[in-house]
Amino acid sequence: MRFQTLILVIYAFFPKDYVASAFIGQRSASLRSTSTPPLHIISFLSSLKEPDEKESKFGRQTYWNECYEKEREFSWYAEWKDIQPFFTELVPLNHEQPPPRVLLPGIGNDRSMVDMYDHGYTQMSAFDYAAEGVECAKEFFADRDCDLLLADCRNLSYENDSFDAILEKGTLDAVYLSGAHDKELAAIYLAMAVSEMARVVRKGGVVMSITAACADAVQEAFEKCGKWRVLRDGGFYATDDGFTSNNIDATIFAWERI
Ligand SMILES: C[S@@+](CC[C@H](N)C(=O)[O-])C[C@H]1O[C@@H](n2cnc3c(N)ncnc32)[C@H](O)[C@@H]1O
Repeated sequence: MRFQTLILVIYAFFPKDYVASAFIGQRSASLRSTSTPPLHIISFLSSLKEPDEKESKFGRQTYWNECYEKEREFSWYAEWKDIQPFFTELVPLNHEQPPPRVLLPGIGNDRSMVDMYDHGYTQMSAFDYAAEGVECAKEFFADRDCDLLLADCRNLSYENDSFDAILEKGTLDAVYLSGAHDKELAAIYLAMAVSEMARVVRKGGVVMSITAACADAVQEAFEKCGKWRVLRDGGFYATDDGFTSNNIDATIFAWERI
């Protein structure tokens, strides 16, 4: 049996916690606890390692931790002020209702997400699998009520239908890159993350993805998942207010959960 096929079989037949805990090297505090898996499964999954540094720098948890220890603030591709016209169009704030519940996967050291919170998206949750990213976020959210977790987006502890929207920026890129040269494995990692998004976003909820490293693979993962309707296909578009997608230095996708 090929290595990738074996992973798929394991992913299909064993609770996701076993799989993801092996990917991230340890069970994060945020992961659900489950009964102990059989020893041969533990041993097989423990053999899955991060990609080699030379193969894929941005696909390594170690890289992100080291990066955030040194640099406490950086926004990949765009800041909230650039994204705002596109996001608010799909996930509007209605001041007569509670704000939408928004999830930010792989927040890292993107301080501009505080501006999103201050804009009115105050029911906000965010996570990263790099503990230093979570520490950065704790620093910049300070006393704002943002729920911050150490978690792996391939295996999340949130309940089903917990969110109305997800805004991911560069995180699916990093997930894909953690497959390094093995493109089938990279696609499996993306499929796991997209399937978790489909689980934690309610029907009718929205995912916006801002991606640059692997736009085709991200698009394919959502298509193959079969639970999404395309709202933004990565092509050029303009909002009613006249903001154009080519002002963002990355591809903007959006899907509605069906
Ligand atoms: C390119 S950075 C983007 C950071 C931030 N979203 C931004 O736009 O500036 C990718 C982020 O994804 C995180 N990441 C990568 N793989 C992850 C995974 N499997 N689960 C959770 N976070 C992950 C990294 O730790 C890093 O913070």
